[in-house]
Amino acid sequence: MAMNPMLTIARRAAEEAGKILQLGQRQLDQIQIEEKGRGDLVSVVDRRAEDVIKNVLLDKYPQHDFLGEESGETRASAEESEYCWVIDPLDGTTNYLHGLPQFAVSIGLLKRGKPELGVVYNPVSEEWFTAARGEGAQLNGRRLRVSGLRDGGRAIAATGFPFRDPDLLTRQYALLASVLQEIADVRRLGSAALDLCFVAANRLDGYFEMGIKPWDICAGLLIAQEAGAIVSDFSGGQDMLERGEIVAGNIYLHKILLTRLAAAA
Ligand code: IPD
Ligand code: CA
Ligand code: CA
Repeated sequence: MAMNPMLTIARRAAEEAGKILQLGQRQLDQIQIEEKGRGDLVSVVDRRAEDVIKNVLLDKYPQHDFLGEESGETRASAEESEYCWVIDPLDGTTNYLHGLPQFAVSIGLLKRGKPELGVVYNPVSEEWFTAARGEGAQLNGRRLRVSGLRDGGRAIAATGFPFRDPDLLTRQYALLASVLQEIADVRRLGSAALDLCFVAANRLDGYFEMGIKPWDICAGLLIAQEAGAIVSDFSGGQDMLERGEIVAGNIYLHKILLTRLAAAA
């Protein structure tokens, strides 16, 4: 099948950003870091990578809107926008700055507010997770399919800690306690985009997080859905981007996680 042209451009943008991330990894001690908030780091690498992505995408599609973690947004509202690119140039900055190879470039595209395509690229492992709505999800060209696991007792799920907000963090501890009653174990891998791709690739059975931003999950959630995962907010609805909360898994695990999250609320 010929590749979707917008996916080709998104891949090109991700590849350029990936080069910048790779270069920075080799000279971590020289990277200037700023703290946006407590434990919330940003570096020149994040900014440079976002600029490159923005240039590649808007050069090709000047009429499209853009929402990037580091440079903000150009659209007036999600509904008004025909196409809006939603990007995180470096998802997993904390890992990156520690030399942990779990980070990625995340490029999503919304069409009238709905995820249309997604590219998540880990330049270290050279893994490309891609999806276009209705066309399935792939890892380096190989079709992805979520696990068929039904037994919560054998399942592992990833999560993230909403460290920017003390109230949410307290809630997260309750969620963790509740979820751990039902599943085997929990992982905190440090990149929401890759967490969702790992659900798609059957490396994780589930994933849940709150206090999350659109650029963290826009691409990954479509990749998970296109691999057959059920993805929702904590109420079972589809307002993941607006509410900043997300739970994903195969049909059985999604239900188990959703029930445990509700029990902790
Ligand atoms: C973070 C990662 C992390 C998630 C945080 C995000 P960043 O993104 O996705 O896994 O738990 O909520 O902010 O700051 O590294 O781009
Ligand atoms: Ca992020
Ligand atoms: Ca980021």
